[in-house]
Amino acid sequence: MPDRPYIFCHMSISLDGKIMGRYMETEASEKAGQAFYRIAFGKDRFYQHQGWLSGRVTTDDNFTLYARPALIPGSPKVTAGDYVARKSDMYYVSIDPSGRLGWQDHVLHYHDTTADVLEVLTEKASNDYKAFLRRLGISYIVAGRDRYDYDQMLQKLKDEFGIQILMLGGGAVLNWSFIQKGYCDEVSLIVNPAADGSVKTQTLFMEREGLSDDTPVTFQLLDVQRTEGDGVWLRYKVNHDQ
Ligand SMILES: NC(=O)c1ccc[n+]([C@@H]2O[C@H](COP(=O)([O-])OP(=O)(O)OC[C@H]3O[C@@H](n4cnc5c(N)ncnc54)[C@H](OP(=O)(O)O)[C@@H]3O)[C@@H](O)[C@H]2O)c1
Repeated sequence: MPDRPYIFCHMSISLDGKIMGRYMETEASEKAGQAFYRIAFGKDRFYQHQGWLSGRVTTDDNFTLYARPALIPGSPKVTAGDYVARKSDMYYVSIDPSGRLGWQDHVLHYHDTTADVLEVLTEKASNDYKAFLRRLGISYIVAGRDRYDYDQMLQKLKDEFGIQILMLGGGAVLNWSFIQKGYCDEVSLIVNPAADGSVKTQTLFMEREGLSDDTPVTFQLLDVQRTEGDGVWLRYKVNHDQ
């Protein structure tokens, strides 16, 4: 294992294990959502991370809203390698292997948290996309040819951006790909006292062909606490030696 950040997966789930859906519209879920935010982003937060990872779909659903990036075709060739636009205390580490996200700014706001966007690309991302990120002042790293080199990615996040503790923040596909490959140390779940029984929404962890499979992973319970609004905060250590 390389020298990488400590990684915890922090997620809010329904009683039936979903991470999206109509259960979120309930008052019960709203209260559990407050616990979710407090623990990872509140003034006296439990986790002292310097960034959180999000999958491309999560970013499109919540921040970039499926906007197309404003590319300039045939942009002048950018310098090869990574681009460090600025340093920050908090990064939104965006898993975007092909360079698809239509950012408008180099910062984003999540409730009262402000974070600098840091794009994690592979060599599949075009020169025009990298030039677009540079115009916006968005830092990026390149880790892997057409698939991520996880060791390289995590080492760069630690060495180039000083990320010692990293939150794995969903969605389902991203979470499972990291957990199954052994790149997650702890799972922190806020279980909402709400469910909707939907079969159309994502569950906490989902395999994706080419990224992960259904080989089981086991966990060791670290702590259980009741939260505001009848939620439960579960913390598990991921068993790596299986
Ligand atoms: N309840 C919660 O706490 C919570 C938290 C976060 C998200 N969510 C919800 O989760 C939903 C999205 O989940 P999702 O599972 O559908 O999508 P996701 O994990 O957010 O994004 C999946 C996409 O990210 C990229 N990706 C992820 N892992 C990768 C890997 N290991 N290697 C290469 N690329 C990788 C791929 O992008 P490309 O398709 O571009 O190749 C993949 O299609 C959203 O609706 C969001 O709101 C809920």
